Amino acid sequence: MRKNRKGIILAGGIGSRLHPLTQVISKQLLPVFDKPMIYYPLSTLMLAGIKQIAIITTPQDLPKFKKLLRSGKQWGLKFSYIVQKKPNGIAEAFILAKNFIKDSPSCLILGDNIYHGNNLSNILKEADEDKENSTIFTYQVKDPERFGVINLDKKGKPVKIVEKPKAPKSNLAITGLYFFPKDVVFRAKNLKPSKRGELEITDLNQSYLSDKKLKVKNLNRGFTWMDTGTFDSLLEASNFISLVQNRQNTIVACPEEIAYGNKWINKSDVKRVAKLMQSAYGQYLKSFIR
Ligand code: G1P
Repeated sequence: MRKNRKGIILAGGIGSRLHPLTQVISKQLLPVFDKPMIYYPLSTLMLAGIKQIAIITTPQDLPKFKKLLRSGKQWGLKFSYIVQKKPNGIAEAFILAKNFIKDSPSCLILGDNIYHGNNLSNILKEADEDKENSTIFTYQVKDPERFGVINLDKKGKPVKIVEKPKAPKSNLAITGLYFFPKDVVFRAKNLKPSKRGELEITDLNQSYLSDKKLKVKNLNRGFTWMDTGTFDSLLEASNFISLVQNRQNTIVACPEEIAYGNKWINKSDVKRVAKLMQSAYGQYLKSFIR
């Protein structure tokens, strides 16, 4: 039997680049316009068709995430909660989540990454189909030195991945969404901490690249990818979501709408949530089950 892919949202870290905003609240619970930041990566996993999702966070933030997201049943999902005591690197997620992943393929999304664009669910489903290789996504940016960057050869084939290079060889950032085959836990356990003492996602990706098991998909200019780890990018993300939603009279990253569209929940499930929310968000829920 083919195993369903398991999802992981990494929502740990101390959010030091956003202090004092993040002194008493997790970055991934901060608002991006009208909803908590974690709704966006959660929606991305749901669009990929993933239903079993682990949320990794710090001991102090765990109760708040549980209060917000609960068991996941309200969206037809099943959440597991895992604690990361110290920010030991993104790749540590796979070691912490090993009992959750078991021998399934997995998909990790960083809790501060927002994806919006046409055909997103098909792009994600295609990545999900391949259970033998890993898939990562690149995006052209102005400031590649802030990210993991992919170096391509003359034919456009990926040759190397470098984390936050001082002199980037391309302007293609590696975004925070990674599809891995079932051997990811084994590979993560074999990583050595980097100079900054972390298990680097870049080293994990590099190990698949070296074994010719890494697919690199570029998200083109019709797409929007944002990380929200700085004051400016946080504000830009809110402005972007507000603009798209107001212009089209829709809500981006609405888990109820995606779950309903996927037939994971029914009209009365949506109604139940709508009743509890007196906001424009609650109004929107009523609009698509009419
Ligand atoms: C992390 C990764 C980096 C990736 C980025 C995407 O960086 O290490 O490779 O490009 O996420 O958001 P961080 O934002 O944790 O510094």
